[in-house]
Amino acid sequence: METAVAISLTLFILTGLCAGQGLFPQGSVNGAEGGTAMFITNLIPPAQPFIKISWTVGGANIITSPGDDSIGPGYGDRITLNKTTGSLELRNLTLADSGEYRVSITTATAETINGSTELVVYENISDANITGPSNNLFADVSSANLTCEAAGNITTIQWTKEGQPLSAGGNILFSEENRKVSISPVKRHDNGEYVCKLTNPASSATASYRMIVNYGPESMTILGQNVAEVELFTLIYCSVQSVPPATFTWLFNGQQTGVHEAGYIIRSVSYNNSGDYRCDARNDLTGNVISVDHSLSVKDKTPPPLSPEGAAGIAVAVMLVVVAVALGLYFGITHQRNNSTNTTETGISHAPDTSHGPGTSLAPDTSHGPGTSLAPDTSHGPGTSLAPDTSHGPGTSLAPDTSHGPGAKGGVYENVGPPLPPPRGSNIYNRSIKC
Ligand SMILES: *[C@@H]1O[C@H](CO)[C@@H](O)[C@H](O)[C@H]1NC(C)=O
Ligand SMILES: *[C@@H]1O[C@H](CO)[C@@H](O)[C@H](O)[C@H]1NC(C)=O
Ligand SMILES: *[C@@H]1O[C@H](CO)[C@@H](O)[C@H](O)[C@H]1NC(C)=O
Ligand SMILES: *[C@@H]1O[C@H](CO)[C@@H](O)[C@H](O)[C@H]1NC(C)=O
Ligand SMILES: *[C@@H]1O[C@H](CO)[C@@H](O)[C@H](O)[C@H]1NC(C)=O
Ligand SMILES: *[C@@H]1O[C@H](CO)[C@@H](O)[C@H](O)[C@H]1NC(C)=O
Ligand SMILES: *[C@@H]1O[C@H](CO)[C@@H](O)[C@H](O)[C@H]1NC(C)=O
Ligand SMILES: *[C@@H]1O[C@H](CO)[C@@H](O)[C@H](O)[C@H]1NC(C)=O
Repeated sequence: METAVAISLTLFILTGLCAGQGLFPQGSVNGAEGGTAMFITNLIPPAQPFIKISWTVGGANIITSPGDDSIGPGYGDRITLNKTTGSLELRNLTLADSGEYRVSITTATAETINGSTELVVYENISDANITGPSNNLFADVSSANLTCEAAGNITTIQWTKEGQPLSAGGNILFSEENRKVSISPVKRHDNGEYVCKLTNPASSATASYRMIVNYGPESMTILGQNVAEVELFTLIYCSVQSVPPATFTWLFNGQQTGVHEAGYIIRSVSYNNSGDYRCDARNDLTGNVISVDHSLSVKDKTPPPLSPEGAAGIAVAVMLVVVAVALGLYFGITHQRNNSTNTTETGISHAPDTSHGPGTSLAPDTSHGPGTSLAPDTSHGPGTSLAPDTSHGPGTSLAPDTSHGPGAKGGVYENVGPPLPPPRGSNIYNRSIKC
């Protein structure tokens, strides 16, 4: 059985590898200086060991095995021979190791298998660097040359910009075997990170260069509404394209405002903010200035929408309040609990107020979810929502009843219930946004 395997292997070797063809893959073996090269034969380990394996380079002995394994000078600690396949590993390569490597193997059946392959050792690529213009570049005016340089054996150079392959054409030209890129004239879209990648079969290196093309300001627009509601926050934003970034100056009705940001912010609009705004954008490097005008007019606050039912509820409430005031005057007990007005406001506005006993509640209501109190609710009697209700969140204060006139509320509650918040008009609705 073993003999049969040996014979078929021998036949394979004799037919396929007689002339040393195919013992190694096509092409040369590439190594990096200081690195390792592997000469790997495609021999299947035979049943019986090879009688002899001999490696040479340029006729000089590297190793002859077995027996006393004679090793050539300079290879002592650099090689490892695989005696079952004839493969050789060569470490700590130098440029001088480049050359034609031959192996001669004698099989157990006294056949000779010869093979050869070439080793090319490359210097590692190092100190890669792109040199580019050191002056300021201006779009459509300047030109730029980028040159990629490095130490070591360089076989190819490829360029990318912002990670995408850079290709010739338009204002871009390659020369000196891709070592140099000429851009003439530079355009604003030529801004970006340029990378050159230098390679050889054994190593590679990259260098990068950030190109800044100055331009602008241009494409200026003002973003913002032309009509603002009094007391609301308003932002007018000046948008412009510029490298380096533009510096801004805002004028209001022709007067300097002292604002030099892109955004002109009015935290709470007043009627006197109506007028003409102008944004000047300046590029300090190109020296260019452009302007855009914007008009702003200020209008009254839109009142919060009231449903018909809500309006009806308020009407009922006002009537009851009038009745209550009359009763209060009648009984002459009008100044009992004035002092706690402020605390009440605080409690209602900022946190659920559980400090009031439930007994003070005119109509305890646990059926409301948070936020439902935003809508006027006609199912409540007047003042219901003013009653502390421990099951409600701070939203309680949002009930429309609190927007009733001050006199009326005072009249109702001085007699019967907890103190009232002071009138705040539409501020109550502002607060509701925060709740
Ligand atoms: C060259 O690169 C190889 C592989 O990256 C490395 O093993 C070797 O030490 C390098 N040689 C030198 C001289 O830096
Ligand atoms: C020799 O090469 C063969 C095939 O690659 C591998 O299986 C074997 O482990 C190697 N022997 C040594 C001593 O490295
Ligand atoms: C590699 O070779 C250089 C000289 O060619 C030697 O100085 C160095 O010690 C060697 N390194 C190793 C790991 O053998
Ligand atoms: C194999 O190479 C050796 C020397 O390296 C040579 O003597 C022998 O004739 C060669 N055999 C064949 C079949 O090429
Ligand atoms: C690249 O080259 C320039 C000019 O020759 C030099 O100033 C710079 O230090 C170099 N950079 C690197 C990383 O070698
Ligand atoms: C770029 O290099 C070319 C020659 O390749 C030269 O004619 C041109 O003046 C250079 N441009 C700049 C901006 O250095
Ligand atoms: C690598 O560069 C060295 C010196 O620059 C040169 O002697 C050698 O032939 C080059 N090797 C290759 C493979 O180009
Ligand atoms: C605009 O009106 C507000 C009050 O509504 C006032 O504080 C501010 O000083 C006024 N500004 C000017 C420029 O008159």
